[in-house]
Amino acid sequence: VCIRPATVEDLAAMQHCNLMCLPENYQMKYYVYHAVSWPTLLHVAEDRGKIVGYVLAKLDEESPKVAKGHITSLSVLRTHRKLGIAAKLMIAANDALMTTYKTESCSLHVRVSNKAALHLYVDTLGYENTGTEKAYYADGEDAHNMRLTFKYGL
Ligand code: ACO
Repeated sequence: VCIRPATVEDLAAMQHCNLMCLPENYQMKYYVYHAVSWPTLLHVAEDRGKIVGYVLAKLDEESPKVAKGHITSLSVLRTHRKLGIAAKLMIAANDALMTTYKTESCSLHVRVSNKAALHLYVDTLGYENTGTEKAYYADGEDAHNMRLTFKYGL
């Protein structure tokens, strides 16, 4: 399985993977908006020509003065889970946020019930829980706000 930056040709397969994995779905124009606005911040996992995972990251548009990153969406197909693919995708997205935009941090939302993703964010990657948003999701579930503050060498 190879982790690589996504191209515009990958967007349909990324959307397909999202539809297979998450109830939070987006129109194709939102994928295109990410690719056109922040072309280095989209990554895919490819296994023998098939897209099996993706991460869609962006700059936080509510923070124009200080560059901050945000993970819009991450998922890995069921057939390819627990192989370290999501961790690699997240590291690629965080690295690209630091290299391309020198962002001070990266934030994301996650369902309070999402044990797998919380393990990945907190234990594997070191994200902190900075608070909970009540009924953030369409079905009424709360979201944890997560943030990783980046460390830059001297
Ligand atoms: N239960 C407990 N821990 C788990 C689970 C699980 N079901 N799945 C993975 N983990 C742990 C792994 O053991 C690993 O821990 P380690 O670093 O201590 O060894 C760590 O999480 C990372 O595992 P990966 O193999 O990199 O994760 P994977 O490729 O399986 O993907 C993901 C994890 C993305 C959460 C996957 O389960 C998935 O696609 N779920 C559905 C979609 C989803 O929930 N996406 C995230 C929503 S939040 C957002 O998009 C911003």
